[in-house]
Amino acid sequence: MVWDALRANHGRNVDRRILELFDDGGRADDFSVRACDMLLDYSKTGIDREARGLLLLLAEAAGLDERRQAMFSGAAINETEARAALHSALRDPDSRAEVEGTPVAPATGATLRRMEAFAESVRAGHIGPPAGQRYTDVINIGIGGSDLGPAMAVQALTPYGGGLDCHFVSNVDGAHVNDVTSRLDPATTLAIVVSKTFTTAETMANAGSVRDWLAAGVGYENAATQFVAVSSDRARTASFGVTEAMVFGFEDWVGGRFSVWGPVGLSVMLAVGADRFREFLAGGAAMDAHFRTAAGPDNMPLMLALVGIWHNQICGYATRAVLPYEQRLARLPAYLQQLEMESNGKCARIDGAELTEHSCPVVWGEPGTNGQHAFFQLIHQGSRVVPCEFMVARDGHERQFAHHHRMLLANCLAQSAALLRGRSLEEAKARLAGAYEGEELERWARHRVFPGNRPSITLIYPKLTPRVLGQIIALYEHRVFVEGTILGINPFDQWGVELGKELASRLEPILAGKGSVEGEDGSTQALVRHLLGSREIDGTETGPHASRVGDGET
Ligand code: F6P
Repeated sequence: MVWDALRANHGRNVDRRILELFDDGGRADDFSVRACDMLLDYSKTGIDREARGLLLLLAEAAGLDERRQAMFSGAAINETEARAALHSALRDPDSRAEVEGTPVAPATGATLRRMEAFAESVRAGHIGPPAGQRYTDVINIGIGGSDLGPAMAVQALTPYGGGLDCHFVSNVDGAHVNDVTSRLDPATTLAIVVSKTFTTAETMANAGSVRDWLAAGVGYENAATQFVAVSSDRARTASFGVTEAMVFGFEDWVGGRFSVWGPVGLSVMLAVGADRFREFLAGGAAMDAHFRTAAGPDNMPLMLALVGIWHNQICGYATRAVLPYEQRLARLPAYLQQLEMESNGKCARIDGAELTEHSCPVVWGEPGTNGQHAFFQLIHQGSRVVPCEFMVARDGHERQFAHHHRMLLANCLAQSAALLRGRSLEEAKARLAGAYEGEELERWARHRVFPGNRPSITLIYPKLTPRVLGQIIALYEHRVFVEGTILGINPFDQWGVELGKELASRLEPILAGKGSVEGEDGSTQALVRHLLGSREIDGTETGPHASRVGDGET
């Protein structure tokens, strides 16, 4: 069995140092893959030729080719929700995908053109608030996939901004809506409520509060015209009061965390313009084409996924750090947390059988160089191995700060080299030899030992343009898809988020003093009693919109 053979390979080589693998020359080239002007180097991992061959076999045995074909063609591969997973069609105007016999390209193309007409009219001031000024600001109200994608992309594409200033309200914490609205002018702010289901409690609460804030500033009638809705559920957008012309719909075959390519990306388009947004889509489509056609080891998403399987399922490393050496990708780790962990953090296989391998690792990270001065200590000397995923642009946008970019590049390369090489006790002693001797030398040197042999991969892209951003996101989407396929799970559902939502809706009235806490577990009972006994929590603290938007929500 291939899994067993991979484990045997790992077991045999567990004491081998990755550096030794470079002895036969050519490894850096052989264990790299190029696609769409990007380079992915995975030579600094323990994967050798045999392991790579076995990993490729694993993907083949999992039926990757057929499943990939099924995904792109529009088959209902999201079996547990009886839906296709066709987000790729949003970025490909020529998609030939069909859902239940109906080609999807005409409708997705029409929606894209509507978005473009709207966004360009707003940016040009032809569509504006009723008071006659131009819109200057946008508040994107959404959470999860209805927030993370656009928030990440707007920040990533800052150099292409110049359109509207986009702000994001996601958390139901009133501090979020307060801190965003308090610095904006309601007379020139456009609100976009983004929710696939239009039932998400946090989003509905935030939408109600933003509506109240707008109404207080410009009057209820005017406020209603300053709302756009992005959703799959037109009935609910209508009952919220958004006019048909201001609703941008998308189909249920676009999962929330894969949705930035369509109307969920409207705030991105308002920030950077329609042409740049098309470049972003084209980048995603280019990665799709590569993923569909490149053979085995030349296929970047496939190899990225196989490295993930190697580190998580074979080596047993429970987390992976995503480290963009690109300040504007500060939200990428959070975006990837949802993309990867909501997709592949599951304990059941598609057929309902229990997953026998570990599910997705914990994904976390921060931009370099900031992370170096925070958690890299553990990455270099901690007792657990954390595979690192570095990414960096060959060129920065700021020509006047070229020396900063050189420092950034040097740091990125230095960290992966240091993780690989480490520093032995002998080397550490040699560095301290003049200052200490004997036991003291040994003692102080031990603190300066780096175990090394810590795996990492490096993705280098030319520059963070809209196209490159599209390529990177699609690369990671396909990685998630391949890993899910190998594990035999459905990456496109998210049943694991439901239980907490149910309990929250049960506890909310109890916290308002309208129900009994009996029946909850002992800890929750005690916490509720502590809260109710120690501070004022009752219905009067709830915003005026709550009764309206709360009706019928789950
Ligand atoms: O609760 C998880 C989730 O369903 C995510 O999958 C989704 O991106 C997010 O909530 C927001 O959902 P919606 O777009 O329907 O408001």
